[in-house]
Amino acid sequence: MSALFTGVNLLELSTIDSTNNYAQQLIRSGNFIEGTIVWAHEQTEGRGQRGKSWDSKQGDSLTFSLLYRPVFLSATWQFRLSMAVALGIVDTLNELTNEQVFKIKWPNDIYYGDKKVAGILIENSMQQGLISSSVIGIGLNVNQQAFDPELPNPTSLALCLGRGFELKELLLQLCDTIERRYLQLKADRIAEIQEEYTSKLFKLGQQVKFLNNDAEIVATIKGVNPQGKLVLEDATGKTTDYGLNELTMLL
Ligand code: BTN
Repeated sequence: MSALFTGVNLLELSTIDSTNNYAQQLIRSGNFIEGTIVWAHEQTEGRGQRGKSWDSKQGDSLTFSLLYRPVFLSATWQFRLSMAVALGIVDTLNELTNEQVFKIKWPNDIYYGDKKVAGILIENSMQQGLISSSVIGIGLNVNQQAFDPELPNPTSLALCLGRGFELKELLLQLCDTIERRYLQLKADRIAEIQEEYTSKLFKLGQQVKFLNNDAEIVATIKGVNPQGKLVLEDATGKTTDYGLNELTMLL
């Protein structure tokens, strides 16, 4: 299957500061085609979550941004888009192995075992309480064999699966599976998305250590609530929902 509109307009660049920055400029120019992909073979200032940088070796990995207009989503439900995108990536990766080995580390890192293989940086613009446009930046480590020793736990598809991948082929497959999840979201099939996202959560049902406002807690991951908060159960059986800035998982 190939995507209907995602990646049909594919802008392939050799070097750029950040594909998310380039995509933001397209939005500012006022007229972008929904589903446009900005793909760069090299980023000089790749951006990660929480102000961190995102490094990848030139030509070895996928760094791209996807532009959508999710005007059907209110600002309150931004996490739904994040769930759909993470699921779309995991769909492609699990298709490569025919096993459900790739997981989503809440909120939206993609993991293989205890290692991170992909990251997502979504930047939404709002108008009258709705998401008028979304830049979905994805960094997927594909053929890279070595990483900066400073990085906590990186890996690549090649290291995980023992073979190399053709970048463009993989990109087009991602366009297809992400678009399917996006259309599922647009069709308001939220319960399915939330259920599938939960079933693919890294360490679901397991006891994990977290840092919660400087205190270490141990709790079992139960799932996510509709706002995207992580639901944890403590030793007494009490469940609490935690927001993005309240938790760091300690691996
Ligand atoms: C993370 O910190 O896990 C998110 C990483 C997102 C990296 C991608 S690479 C393509 C796009 N352009 C950027 O500058 N960042 C995102």
